[in-house]
Formats: sequence, structure tokens, C-alpha cells
Amino acid sequence: MASKGPEVPLLSVEGLSFSYLDSPRAALTDVNLKINRGEIVILAGQSGCGKSTLLRCVNGLIPHMYPGDYKGRIVVDGDVVAETPMGKLAQMVGFLFQNPENQIFMFSVERDIAFGLENQGLPRQEMRRRVDEVMGLLHIEPLALRPPHELSDGQKQRVALAGIIAMRPNLVILDEPTSLLDPKTASELVSLVSKLNKELGITFVIVEHRLELLTPIADRIVVMDKGRVVMEGTPTEVLTNPASSTHGLAIPPVFSLYSELAERGSRLPRAPLTPEEMAQELNAP
Ligand SMILES: Nc1ncnc2c1ncn2[C@@H]1O[C@H](COP(=O)(O)OP(=O)(O)OP(=O)(O)O)[C@@H](O)[C@H]1O
Ligand SMILES: [Mg+2]
Repeated sequence: MASKGPEVPLLSVEGLSFSYLDSPRAALTDVNLKINRGEIVILAGQSGCGKSTLLRCVNGLIPHMYPGDYKGRIVVDGDVVAETPMGKLAQMVGFLFQNPENQIFMFSVERDIAFGLENQGLPRQEMRRRVDEVMGLLHIEPLALRPPHELSDGQKQRVALAGIIAMRPNLVILDEPTSLLDPKTASELVSLVSKLNKELGITFVIVEHRLELLTPIADRIVVMDKGRVVMEGTPTEVLTNPASSTHGLAIPPVFSLYSELAERGSRLPRAPLTPEEMAQELNAP
């Protein structure tokens, strides 16, 4: 798809409402959202607010696989999702499931990574090149010949992500990617997301409850409540707004401390995103 200039969003959700078949309640109601190329966006909100449903609408599982009442439209990179075949969508939108077991099946790590490319019918040499490239990028070359079921959760996640990145999608969606990971592995995944964003220009939409992990690298937070988008803005805008806690977000301490200081009239020169930045601001003359 040719570039259409920075003003055309990569993803545009327009007046989207969806109810699952036989469900009495709408899972999504009049959702409007634009995501620009190169952004990293956190999708937040309490359990059941519709985050996964919205992601399924973006990658086409809804309406292609889940029946229901669908209104509005989603455009990804110029294509209307409901009118685009799943095969084409799979190349445009990478989707990392919460549990990488669902995405790992073959006999070795490198065959796993090549799986999506085989489905695209790429020439063998090009496939080899892309698998090697992505294994280098994600630092998993030493695992190439290992059977995936012997890997740790963090390694499995990397392998699943490598399989996605090898397809060269413009948009990658992660649904609670750190929920199975220990804190160190989770922060390694966050660094990897930042690197893939900077070096390959990949746009990310990430559902995450542990906000403090992602706020340092996120451009925006979108908050959902009861199937609607209720807030959006930079991490600082959203997390220092008192309304954010009414939508069930766990406000990272850095942001609550910043709000508290502002309330008491001692506004810091710059809003910190990490405890380290907070310490610097507090120590600034
Ligand atoms: N396959 C399904 N069939 C029917 N209803 C569903 C289905 N999946 C989700 N729902 C309903 O749709 C609403 C939104 O659920 P969804 O899973 O999108 O929320 P979520 O924000 O991802 O929650 P969580 O944080 O727990 O993952 C909920 O009321 C849920 O019960
Ligand atoms: Mg969910």
C-alpha cells in the first residue's frame, strides 16, 4: 500500500458498535478512534469493558469469525476490515495472543517463525532471509533449532512475536502481552516493542493493566468503559486527570504523586514518566 502522507491515520474506527450473537448487551457502542502511523497506544479499562472485542474488530476476527450485530466501519491502511479477506488482514495486522501457546505449534523455533511466511507463498530464499533477520532483531538465534514447547514463557512470546514481525505488518496488536511474564522479562518485552517501533516504524496497540510498564514508551492512552471510549490523551494527560481512576485504572505512583504535588501548588517543571525522572525533577534546582 502506497504511503498516503502523515495526515491519513493507519487505523480509523468509525462509529463502531457490536453485540455478540444472542448477547443482551452491546460489547461496543459508537467507538471512534484514530491511530497514526508510528504511534504506540495503550488500550486500558477494567475487565469486560470491550478491549479484546475492539481488537478482534481491528484484526477482522469480528465480523469474519464471530457473528453478531455490527455497525460502523474500521479502515486499516486504506482497506475496510469487514470487506477484506482474513488472509490479507493477517499480513497487515499482526496479533499476539495473551497466551503464546496458541501461536506456537511446529517442530523448531525457525519453522514456527516461517509458518506465516509459508502461507504467503514467499520464495524459499526470501523466507530464509526474513527468518534470519527477525531472529537477529529479537535476539533468539541461539534458539533457532530448539523445539518451542521447551522454551520459557518469555522465549515463547518472543518466538510468537518474531513470527508476526516476519510478515512485516504495519500494525501490531498485543492483548495483555506481559500477563504471563515475570517483571524482568516483561520489561525486556517493553524494550523490544520500543526498538521495533523505532527501527521498523511498526505501530503498536497494546492492552495492558500494568500501566507503569508501558507509559514510558507510549504516545497515547485510550480508556474504555462499558464498551465506549471515555478518555484519550498522552499518559500524563490521562493519568493525572482525576476522572481516570473512576474508570478503574490503576494509576502508577509517579502520576498520582505528580497530581498530588500539583494540587498542593508545587508544580514540577516537567511531568515525569518514570520514578527516575521523578527523582530528577524533584532534585532540579
Ligand atoms: N465470545 C463472546 N461471546 C459473547 N460475549 C462476549 C464474548 N467475548 C466477550 N464477550 C462480552 O463482551 C463484553 C466485552 O468483553 P471483552 O472480552 O471485550 O472485554 P475486555 O475489556 O477485553 O476484558 P478483560 O480485561 O477481562 O480481558 C463483556 O460483556 C463480555 O462478557
Ligand atoms: Mg480482554
